[in-house]
Amino acid sequence: MSTSKIIIAVDGYSSCGKSTLAKALAAHLAYVFIDTGAMYRAIALYLLRHQIDFNDTSKVIEALTQIKLYFKYNAQTAKSDMYLNDENVELEIREMRVSQKVSEVAAISEVRSFAVAQQHEMGKDKGIVMDGRDIGTVVFPNAALKIFVTADPAIRIQRRYLELSATNSKVTREEIAQNLQHRDLIDTTREHSPLRQAEDARVLDNSNMTREEQFNLAISWVKEVIG
Ligand code: DC
Repeated sequence: MSTSKIIIAVDGYSSCGKSTLAKALAAHLAYVFIDTGAMYRAIALYLLRHQIDFNDTSKVIEALTQIKLYFKYNAQTAKSDMYLNDENVELEIREMRVSQKVSEVAAISEVRSFAVAQQHEMGKDKGIVMDGRDIGTVVFPNAALKIFVTADPAIRIQRRYLELSATNSKVTREEIAQNLQHRDLIDTTREHSPLRQAEDARVLDNSNMTREEQFNLAISWVKEVIG
């Protein structure tokens, strides 16, 4: 494979397996994996902790000046954890209380500008796999490879259930189904950078694929692009 590094944008609905794919691609290519959803989750956590009204734009703008976000590699899990003001919030940002509010927070234009500026910085040397909703459309519209991941709703619910029930035994499938529906609606209909497939994205429907099959398909696309 060529040594020239590219940007790979992985977009799609919640719980479609985007992160699994993006992480595997990054590990294989020795690229940096960036989970942009974690950034919106950490911002939502900050606003929730400080009881900031999402509709109060000046309070939200003020809060953003107090937020420092970064990813740090965790050798124990072999993954990067999200840090909010030097605190590891990787587990807390996955909790239902954050999931229930994060789409509202991610719909605020000031929040998006704040996160996107940092995402641009993270991608300036290329060699990244960035996972999100607007990466191929807004953040890196010139990304060399754009993958739009989709999966059957019932399969998405089951995957999220298995993921969450590993750490939270109280969560129900019904709660997850409602949350995914709610987030899909907000993510696709918001005014700023709604989730949509970029015209030049390659669609990967992994409903009936194993992780390995989805990885192999994506790697074949990478090879096509970088030769
Ligand atoms: O990928 P995730 O489920 O952790 O994302 C959390 C929320 O953040 C999701 O509801 C939509 C939003 N998001 C976004 O608006 N833009 C991104 N690039 C990534 C996530």
